[in-house]
Amino acid sequence: MIFFIDTAEIEEIKELYNWGIIDGVTTNPSLIAKSGGDQKKIITEIAQIVDGPISAEVIATDYEGMIKEGAELSKIHQNVVIKVPMTVDGLKATYWFNKNKIRTNVTLVFSANQALLAAKNGASYISPFIGRLDDIGQTGMELIKEIKIMFDHYQYSTKILAASIRSTQHAKDVALAGCDVATMPPKIIKQLIKHPLTDIGLEKFLADYKNSL
Ligand code: E4P
Repeated sequence: MIFFIDTAEIEEIKELYNWGIIDGVTTNPSLIAKSGGDQKKIITEIAQIVDGPISAEVIATDYEGMIKEGAELSKIHQNVVIKVPMTVDGLKATYWFNKNKIRTNVTLVFSANQALLAAKNGASYISPFIGRLDDIGQTGMELIKEIKIMFDHYQYSTKILAASIRSTQHAKDVALAGCDVATMPPKIIKQLIKHPLTDIGLEKFLADYKNSL
């Protein structure tokens, strides 16, 4: 499974990218705002660190605006993927970007039908939000499973990018479901590494070795 890191914090990206497990980055307007708000500067910096897809989201909500903004963002670096919301204008923009060989990540996907439409219009990635569905009492993982079944019936090149991952259980479940990509906040990626028995086991190995000297 491909791992993206879901943050716009440069230091966090540097730290985890050095571990070798990160293949790309996703950002959104909230994450960009949290990191200072200058999207062009932040995406430029990320592109200097990470050699992989970097999602940068348009702020415009109208078709013309999305095209203009997305085309500008795509000039920052060849690895930039334009994130567009799952709306009529977003769908139209996805079609335009695809025709113009600009990769897209259709975001805020909450139903399998939305995922299907984005795939039909040539989205490079679709981002179903697991955690936000759980937040309203639905089961985000059910959506992932539905999209996976649906996409397996056809030959879409669109990748399923599991987003809004809030726990290590989510991370495991999306891998078990065969998702192409998971984007996770740094906190969750760090939690994936840890197991108490690893720490206890290592401590014991080292103590035994020390005692034998
Ligand atoms: C990623 O593309 C999304 O913007 C992100 O995963 C949303 O996560 P959240 O629902 O925890 O804000």
